[in-house]
Amino acid sequence: MAAPGFTPTQLAARAAYLLRGNDLGTMTSAAPRLYPHMWSWDAAFVSVGLAPLSVERAVVELDTLLSAQWSNGMIPHIVFASGVDGYFPGPARWQVNELAAHAPVGVHTSGITQPPVHAIAVQRILDHARRRGRTTRQVAGEFLDRRWPDLVRWHRWLAHARDQNHTGRITLYHGWESGMDNSPRWDAAYAKVIPGAVPPYIREDTSIVTDSSQRPSNIEYDRYLWLLEEMKLARYDDLALNSAMSFAVEDVFVSAIFAVACDVLATIGEDHSRPHADVRDLRAWADRFRSGVVATTDARSGAARDRDVRSGEWIKTDTMAMFAPLLCGGLPRDTERALLRLFEGPRFCGHPDFKYAVPPSTSPISRDFRPREYWRGPVWPVVTWLFSWAFARRGWSERSAMLREEGLRQASDGSFAEYYEPFTGEPLGSMQQSWTAASVLDWLG
Ligand code: GLC
Repeated sequence: MAAPGFTPTQLAARAAYLLRGNDLGTMTSAAPRLYPHMWSWDAAFVSVGLAPLSVERAVVELDTLLSAQWSNGMIPHIVFASGVDGYFPGPARWQVNELAAHAPVGVHTSGITQPPVHAIAVQRILDHARRRGRTTRQVAGEFLDRRWPDLVRWHRWLAHARDQNHTGRITLYHGWESGMDNSPRWDAAYAKVIPGAVPPYIREDTSIVTDSSQRPSNIEYDRYLWLLEEMKLARYDDLALNSAMSFAVEDVFVSAIFAVACDVLATIGEDHSRPHADVRDLRAWADRFRSGVVATTDARSGAARDRDVRSGEWIKTDTMAMFAPLLCGGLPRDTERALLRLFEGPRFCGHPDFKYAVPPSTSPISRDFRPREYWRGPVWPVVTWLFSWAFARRGWSERSAMLREEGLRQASDGSFAEYYEPFTGEPLGSMQQSWTAASVLDWLG
């Protein structure tokens, strides 16, 4: 690593120390101040980072998350730490315990979901356990015995409740469900959301990240909160949401993650003698969603698109979403080559003025690009990690290693920022973000 800053050993130690600091006992907060609870996809990545440190602790993280799973199978996007305030919207605003028939008892959660990356964490846990002693292997084995049905239920819920029309694409009812809250991908769909009477609220995020140019705007927030009111009116019912929500999009990136996660889980199932019927279903979903992703792509460039379910229109943006097929495969060889060239070229990772050759959330040559604003431009280390993981899995080891190396160079500043300005490398958003530390730990593991 050529960049100034911490050496790999120092960096790994700091990352481990950070995760320990964010550890609330049985869950790791996504970040100390801005996100003082457990977020679903953060928890999965955090487990990936914990696995090399302690398989046992990584298992606890996923157990906590899965203990908050809804009875319909949904893994909620937030599990609230008990007795911790300081985040809006909190349990009182979501009201899932009063309204949702499927909400879990004895724990507070939000009422929406997040990208299904959890199978990746389970795979990492099993891989690390294999290299450990018998007791640790047993902990991992028992975890799989205990949670396999929950993991399959989670995937079944996504395949059924969130693909009611069998398009092979996951429908989202809130931009937050994409994990990329204010991405330009959702601008057109949000523009059609007309907020009704949003009960009064005070944002907490902007009192923590005080430079408002790094966070979503107030108008964006009004829409986000109006969608919660729509969900509450529908009592978070899967069928009712399908017609009740004024925001509904097919997310191609989440669909690609789901396709690959189904394959990962199916392989785990085969290796660990899980029921044939489960493995068969998982493979079938992997195929269906891979085809659903490929069906959105441009024949020449291979770039994928989201779809606005309400207007029926395709959503074509110069964002991360274009590269969804690189995660799950399925493109013809030449088209895949073209898409890889786009990913690595000057419109994305290879922009000549970028400090590090890592993927920005939005292309720097797009009209929508804002280098400091959240999902509208900055680099998110965890997404770099996801691509490097996927590339390794697809057998592109050099490409994977390159992302890892560049991602580590960026992280060697030791801030473990939530996101970074692509040209200057300035750390932005929350510092000491758990999933950034987790990515680094996996890379250095
Ligand atoms: C932000 C991100 C989301 C993440 C959460 C916690 O809301 O957009 O993807 O899960 O923070 O880190």
